[in-house]
Amino acid sequence: MEKIKKPRGTMDIIAPDTAVWQYIEKTAADVAHRFGFGEIRTPTFEELGLFHRGVGETTDVVQKEMYTFEDKEGRVFALRPEGTASVVRAVIENGKQSDPLPLRYFYNINCFRYEKPQAGRSREFYQFGAEMFGAAGAGADYSMISLADTFIKELGITGVELHINSIGCPNCRPAYREALVKYLRENEAELCDTCKARLEQNPLRVLDCKNHSCSEIAAKAPRTVDHLCDECKDHLDALKGYLDGSGIGYEIDPHIVRGLDYYTRTVFEFIVPGIGAQSTVCGGGRYDGLMEQLGGSPMPGIGFAMGITRLILAMEQCGAKIPEPAGVELYVAPMGAPAAKFASKIVSELRRLGVCADFDIMGRSLKAQMKYADKLGAKRVLIIGDSEIESGMAMLKNMQTSEQTEVALDGAAIVSLITNN
Ligand code: HAM
Repeated sequence: MEKIKKPRGTMDIIAPDTAVWQYIEKTAADVAHRFGFGEIRTPTFEELGLFHRGVGETTDVVQKEMYTFEDKEGRVFALRPEGTASVVRAVIENGKQSDPLPLRYFYNINCFRYEKPQAGRSREFYQFGAEMFGAAGAGADYSMISLADTFIKELGITGVELHINSIGCPNCRPAYREALVKYLRENEAELCDTCKARLEQNPLRVLDCKNHSCSEIAAKAPRTVDHLCDECKDHLDALKGYLDGSGIGYEIDPHIVRGLDYYTRTVFEFIVPGIGAQSTVCGGGRYDGLMEQLGGSPMPGIGFAMGITRLILAMEQCGAKIPEPAGVELYVAPMGAPAAKFASKIVSELRRLGVCADFDIMGRSLKAQMKYADKLGAKRVLIIGDSEIESGMAMLKNMQTSEQTEVALDGAAIVSLITNN
């Protein structure tokens, strides 16, 4: 029979490799909790219109990368390509806008984008993200950046660069757009076909194009930071003030425009050079108009999301260690059928008492069981035969020291011996 393979650009993540994923998700939840964030879970698929309105009609994500499908009643849905639009929808739909502000939520989700798979880029990928609503000042921008920075450092990732830019607001963006379109028109002949089309629809996207000739043109293009209104300039200065006082290093990078349409003012990325072509481990920014755009009352928002596979690549590059998952504390090796039954009872009791315990269910010989216990890395082995059942006592062998201690065949007695040795 021909074997069935997983879809291109997806992953099977199998133990023990899942240990690092669990560690990252747990660390994310711990750090987010310390920063006052609670978890939010939203559906894997949403009405297609949410992403058209939320992420933007002219973005690559919406135009080229969405997995869409019709359900049996002809409604059109999309697998989420990101988390922010869904979080905003959920906040509005569940009346959370009237909760005490700021609202702070984090999520660990899978996302779907039809992209060309490569190291650090897949079609189903995983994000840790966080969103904050209701705080318009630069203190909120600083808090989000500080959360991302704390988390990345807590994972043991070093050599990370923080790039920041401001892409202005609806007040100052039109004048900037005009200057940019004028400049791009003067260089139109050198632009790729996609960017020629983008020029009218969404000229900011041209600045993000990976095509060599486009990026050369982008490098000399007018910069958003030179066209900010006073409010946006003050906001950026205030953020710089927070960062300067905090010891989080950063650089102003006028080339960051981000690939999604909802951003206003602050945008930022954390980059780990050396992990490959996809070196942006975190992307985020402010999106003060999105709540209103999705039907809520006006409320500023800011957030970020990080790609878990890219974080793992960065951890590997830095030699970051994760705590060893706890191994088998006790392996019970029965000899014969009555002993096997007895072993199952003892092991169940120990498991209920919180001990990681195992016993033979493969019918292995005692020698093969000892070999298997060794492979499992079991710290102790308890051998049970007919005479042990009769006396209610057995020898507990410490696999590291080979030391043997007699113990009563009773869950509580075994636990007390294990914890005191
Ligand atoms: P994004 O820049 O599209 O932003 O994605 C955030 C991060 O997700 C990227 O920096 C990258 O680490 C990871 N990522 C994106 N696409 C892929 C992929 N195909 N394979 C692997 N990893 C990927 C957002 O998604 C925004 N929702 C972030 C945000 C939250 N902005 C405000 N709030």
